[in-house]
Amino acid sequence: MNKIAPAINDKPNTEPAGSESIRECIRTASELVRKRSEAAGRKLSYHVTTFGCQMNARDSEKLSGILEECGYIYEEDELSADVVIYNTCTVRDNANQRFFGHLGSIGAVKRKRSGMIIGVCGCLSQEVTAREKILKSFPFVDIVFGTHNVFDLASLLVKALSRDPSEKSHAVTEIWDGTDMIVEDVPVKRNYRFKSGVNIMFGCDNFCSYCIVPYVRGRERSRRSEDIIEEIKRLSDDGVVEVMLLGQNVNSYGKGLDEDIDFAKLLGMVEKVDGIERIRFMTSHPKDLSDELIEVMAASDKICRHIHLPLQSGSSRILESMNRHYTKEQYIELAGRIRERVDGISVTTDIMVGYPGETEKDIDDTIDVIEKVGFDGAFTFIYSKRAGTKAAAMPDQVSDEFVKESFDRVLKKVQDVSTRQAKKIEGRIMDVLVEDINRQDPHLVTGRLSNNLTVHFPGDSSLIGKIVDVKLSSCKGFYYIGEKI
Ligand code: SAH
Ligand code: SF4
Ligand code: F3S
Repeated sequence: MNKIAPAINDKPNTEPAGSESIRECIRTASELVRKRSEAAGRKLSYHVTTFGCQMNARDSEKLSGILEECGYIYEEDELSADVVIYNTCTVRDNANQRFFGHLGSIGAVKRKRSGMIIGVCGCLSQEVTAREKILKSFPFVDIVFGTHNVFDLASLLVKALSRDPSEKSHAVTEIWDGTDMIVEDVPVKRNYRFKSGVNIMFGCDNFCSYCIVPYVRGRERSRRSEDIIEEIKRLSDDGVVEVMLLGQNVNSYGKGLDEDIDFAKLLGMVEKVDGIERIRFMTSHPKDLSDELIEVMAASDKICRHIHLPLQSGSSRILESMNRHYTKEQYIELAGRIRERVDGISVTTDIMVGYPGETEKDIDDTIDVIEKVGFDGAFTFIYSKRAGTKAAAMPDQVSDEFVKESFDRVLKKVQDVSTRQAKKIEGRIMDVLVEDINRQDPHLVTGRLSNNLTVHFPGDSSLIGKIVDVKLSSCKGFYYIGEKI
């Protein structure tokens, strides 16, 4: 692993704060928040803005949980909140540039609102150059903390709230370059009452040549199955019917634990939790997806008929350079085996275009895999050079024209194939977990099929969180319009 240099006020790899010390910091922070709130004559508010993947979404629920326990109330408008935390993603550079642009505009807002606290955390703050840029170019940022320090927010707030606002000072920072600990029992404020992400592991050890995640999320470590099941039981008692098990590569769950467990066994245990009706997981690396996992999925009533299986490229040559540990043929065979064994499963993927050295022939291979597997959906990304990764140092970065043309070809193929796939279930009646009121039309609700497709149908807020039968009347490409049966 590339060592990431500690930042100002850094305290790398110190003793873990247990849940007791988190509570202690929350008590101290609440006292400071109460005093500020009294002085202002109103409740103080917070907003957490999240970028990136499901891991970040889950971390944001922890940040919100801590902030609420400190006495802040949720404010929908980012610019009106007293504390704003940006939970960042750095997987591609264009998002970083957008974030910096946004952060710049926040400076002007803060100047007009004394006492506002701005925090930046997440994957971007783990990167030395990005972090230095935040500290130097955005001096109004009060707190900068890393992916391993989410649980520490209350103690950072105490430091930030205790400073004299008129004094110019450095941001409070807490960024560890890595950790081998897992902090349990961090307060959580869920975004949804009826569904929840559950971390089963943290970090990633795969070092795909293009990817920055292993550098910013640290080494892979699995949670003990007992802790995971306890959490899911508590969620179920609290009304949750759907859980999504989260890890950068759930198929390597269990490595390094001193119990006889792997991901397929863990799924078997989650299945037994009463009240949980749907189980999802994210993400599966094709290299170590076991037959046992396929069998557990095939036999289960609760595990959703959906697998996200990132392909990245259909060219064996590129896959080897990417350090993905599978070939084009192995991927097609695996996807075929899953489809054969798990009835009605949808297979979605991630595809990257513009990797160093990629040629038209490699793109042809990717398009061939899209056709042969018949993906039900795919996220397509333009390769982004990430400093410190192996691919960033490769000489043959490809031209913008090639990328644009290839991206359009891949996208078109994905759209054609996934529309064809989605149409296959038109007219059927299927169970739908209702998630929200439709954003465009308040007479409709939006729900999700087991296979992860969304359906909009007439209904009201009383249906939210319920699983209902819906007729899939009309396919609109990647979603359905339906009617409740
Ligand atoms: N752990 C997951 C992926 C996490 S990142 C897995 O291995 O499948 C999500 C997606 O972002 C990846 O699947 C990949 O397609 C994309 N991605 C990662 N690094 C990228 C980069 N440097 N440029 C463009 N896309 C990238
Ligand atoms: Fe990145 Fe590969 Fe790890 Fe996924 S498995 S997070 S793509 S290094
Ligand atoms: Fe982004 Fe970090 Fe997730 S880099 S994709 S938020 S692990």
